[in-house]
Amino acid sequence: MSTSKTWGGRFGQATDQRVESFTSSLDYDRRLYAHDIRGSIAHARMLAHVGVLTGTECDEIVTGLERIKSEIERGEFEWLPAHEDVHMNIELRLTEQIGEVGKKLHTARSRNDQVATDLRLYMRYAVDEILTALVAFQVELLDIAEREAETIMPGFTHMQTAQPVTAGHHVMAWSQMLERDMQRLFEVRQRINIMPLGAAALSGTSFPIDRTFTAKELGFDEPSANSLDAVSDRDFVIEFVAGASILMVHLSRIAEELILWCSEPFGFIQIGEAFCTGSSIMPQKKNPDVAELTRAKSGRVFGHLVAILTVMKGQPLAYNRDNQEDKELSFDTVDTVLACLEVMLGMMSDIHFQRERLLAAAQRGYSTATDLAEYLVSKGVPFRDAHEAVGKTVRYALERHKSLSELSLDELQRFSDEIQADVFDRLTIEGSVSVRVHVGGTAPSEVIKSVRNARERLTRRRELLGRLPK
Ligand code: ARG
Repeated sequence: MSTSKTWGGRFGQATDQRVESFTSSLDYDRRLYAHDIRGSIAHARMLAHVGVLTGTECDEIVTGLERIKSEIERGEFEWLPAHEDVHMNIELRLTEQIGEVGKKLHTARSRNDQVATDLRLYMRYAVDEILTALVAFQVELLDIAEREAETIMPGFTHMQTAQPVTAGHHVMAWSQMLERDMQRLFEVRQRINIMPLGAAALSGTSFPIDRTFTAKELGFDEPSANSLDAVSDRDFVIEFVAGASILMVHLSRIAEELILWCSEPFGFIQIGEAFCTGSSIMPQKKNPDVAELTRAKSGRVFGHLVAILTVMKGQPLAYNRDNQEDKELSFDTVDTVLACLEVMLGMMSDIHFQRERLLAAAQRGYSTATDLAEYLVSKGVPFRDAHEAVGKTVRYALERHKSLSELSLDELQRFSDEIQADVFDRLTIEGSVSVRVHVGGTAPSEVIKSVRNARERLTRRRELLGRLPK
């Protein structure tokens, strides 16, 4: 009884239709075709290198695989669901094309080490794409920060006006979040870049394979150290999706601030019309849907993290079919992150800070109260007493609907004898930000310094990205 399956030999019955569609991964793992073919070519070359295949056999296989690759890319490849997955579709097509020798490709290999290798190659590529997108995003943030280094706006804690900050400093805080995301992805990349090939099904192989040869062909740093672990490990997926989740946390936070800032009551920024949408009923509306969707799409990436953790939890060694569930969530994570970065970058480059609104907002809410307290401390008043005195001053000003700088020297002196005419310099918004010149402070001069540092770091990162094996 024939079953047309590569594994059909021991079966007397054909696979149930429902099982065939339930177990098939072809719909989504096709995406791995280029990595699969690359892995197979490296494997064939290694087999020839150690004498398991002849040079001619290897050449035929490599030529056949390359032909299949262009068939796929021209859209001429016929994908057959009955062949379960991308690996078997390509292998069976190879044999169809080059005959018997095609059947030798799977020597010293299993789909278990093959799929783990494919996914790592894909993931390495995807991480580099995301890192490249992050570099572009950072370049934009740094340009904005430089432009808005002197723009004063209210800084918030508890969403209440706290102290004045510069808009450039705020944007550089976003840049710091993304800097950590880049660090994380570079680290994850190192653990992705380990080669499972050669582990075969789970125990290795009796053939005299040269795993270092294959690893080098594929740009992996080294072969995996344990064959059981090699076919079962998906830590690199977990780590990647975790890194992507944190990145999405950051994008959602940036998105949320943009949403608030472009709302009518805030009016801190204008977003370009090309990056907003309208309402089907309210003609006046200009909505920040790009930012809202980015904020929401974080949810699906977090979902993928929980999914892959759950897929792996409690799995016994070595390969189990459970692992097939690693792919769709990986692909969707990559697609979601790249889409968000791309559209957020576009929007970011069309954002206009409303400097007068920002300044006016910073002037409300007694944002220089801490400066007044610090002024008193500089005159020898213990901080707690200064805090108390300024608290009373704010209350007094509130009752008279005045800002601190609108109080006269006489009025201010009611709360402390130490207050002199020089206090008014400290009560200005500009004075408040310009004295915060320590490392990490909000002063325009510090913003410019941190933009410069970040640009140098980005240049190094870009060079590193260019140097890494692909
Ligand atoms: N489609 C499978 C996966 O994604 C390939 C490996 C199948 N291995 C097996 N022994 N059935 O994991």
